Amino acid sequence: MEKKDQKIAALTPSEIVKELDKYIIGQSDAKRAVAIALRNRWRRQQVKDDMREEIMPNNIILIGPTGVGKTEIARRLSKLAQAPFIKVEASKFTEVGYVGRDVESMVRDLVDVAVNMVKSEKTIEVQQKATELAEEKILDILIPPVKIHTSSEEANNSIEGEIQTTPEDHANEIIKNRSTREWMRKKLKNGELDDKIIEFDSQEVPAVGMQILGPFGMDDMGINIQEIVGSMMPKKKRKKKTTIKEARKILTQEEAQKLIDMEAVQKEAIQRVENSGIIFIDEIDKIAATGKSHGPDVSREGVQRDLLPIVEGSNVNTKYGVVKTDHILFIASGAFHVAKPSDLIPELQGRFPIRVELNSLTEEDFIKILTMPENALLKQYNSLIQTEGVSLEFTDDAIKEIAKVASEVNEQVENIGARRLHTILTTLLDDILFGVPDLINDKKITINGDFVRDKLGKIVKNRDLSKYIL
Ligand SMILES: Nc1ncnc2c1ncn2[C@@H]1O[C@H](COP(=O)(O)OP(=O)(O)OP(=O)(O)O)[C@@H](O)[C@H]1O
Ligand SMILES: [Mg+2]
Repeated sequence: MEKKDQKIAALTPSEIVKELDKYIIGQSDAKRAVAIALRNRWRRQQVKDDMREEIMPNNIILIGPTGVGKTEIARRLSKLAQAPFIKVEASKFTEVGYVGRDVESMVRDLVDVAVNMVKSEKTIEVQQKATELAEEKILDILIPPVKIHTSSEEANNSIEGEIQTTPEDHANEIIKNRSTREWMRKKLKNGELDDKIIEFDSQEVPAVGMQILGPFGMDDMGINIQEIVGSMMPKKKRKKKTTIKEARKILTQEEAQKLIDMEAVQKEAIQRVENSGIIFIDEIDKIAATGKSHGPDVSREGVQRDLLPIVEGSNVNTKYGVVKTDHILFIASGAFHVAKPSDLIPELQGRFPIRVELNSLTEEDFIKILTMPENALLKQYNSLIQTEGVSLEFTDDAIKEIAKVASEVNEQVENIGARRLHTILTTLLDDILFGVPDLINDKKITINGDFVRDKLGKIVKNRDLSKYIL
């Protein structure tokens, strides 16, 4: 697992594009731009200290019509990034008041991601040790170790009138205990004891019992009330009764927690956010002013102004410490069909020097989108239907026809990009999805061109109908 991660961290731009190609058809300019940006993060890390400080990330704006893969690129990139990565919707910062969040919270969220990331890496590192410690604990319960007698204990024994054990007996007992323990350890490791019930002390993290909402603005300062209250409560030990299998899991986790140095984790997390963090701001066009200076625009522009210092580089307080945002990479994306990039405030435009346009999708693209990605729609439907013991196949002719219908409807009604394929397929497959397995009992269903024309032809010809259905 670790090895694989390291490999991903070192993916070259062309390898990154290749990974993205598995899920996203076309859009090669956008893929190239993000691949270069991602690799540059790694490159910068290899550069000597003083120069490294000087190298600023080249933030990117992805521009393209709706449904052509902007968000999808972000989603896939996050899996490759091997760096703290979050995606936020710009519009959520415009909803002032109760639901709206301050813009800095994106940095705090990024730190949370990083802390979890580092923590789970460290957990893997200590796993072996934690497993051993947990095993010892369970063995202690199964076969309590023989106490080394002290003179006062011996005195006690004699008062209770027990038979005095000689030092020899005692030594024998210890040896016997040890060998039973080893015998038991083997059984435990083999999983032979998994179903046995055992009682043990578990370190409960105190449940505060309710979500504590801080006074307004506490979130701004990055103070976590929940945690403060939590740490004030004494750690409770609670008796738990579970199977040994379960106990092992719980105890291993507890031991791992104890072995991890949380302070070091937090430091490392902040360091990673500062040097390789990526924030993807989706729907950035939603915070661009549209020319009419009505109410909402004020709030939109406000969000842009708040965004400015973060993108440019400033210090943000988080509950784990101060984060410098200078080297965080920002990738923004938006359809920009109402507002234009030039409607963003000029200062902000300047902070996104790389602009990449994504193309509208063609009929050919649709054919590929239907069939090629690892999670291609047709594969998805096939897997769904397969759970009923039925295989679903599409002939080439059918696929071509679906793609054709999709681009026709996109042209005639509204261009919603690849999302059109979703609506078309649900309509096309409606009867089959309803009928399998009891009304339709074929074991193999083949969709051909005629089936598609039959089912969709009428709807496509009738504009009003397709507006509602497709
Ligand atoms: N180029 C593409 N290759 C494969 N699938 C795509 C492509 N473009 C879009 N899709 C699919 O279409 C759907 C919508 O795409 P996505 O969410 O990326 O749109 P978007 O460009 O972010 O649009 P919007 O501006 O409306 O947010 C997703 O299910 C995605 O998988
Ligand atoms: Mg999107």
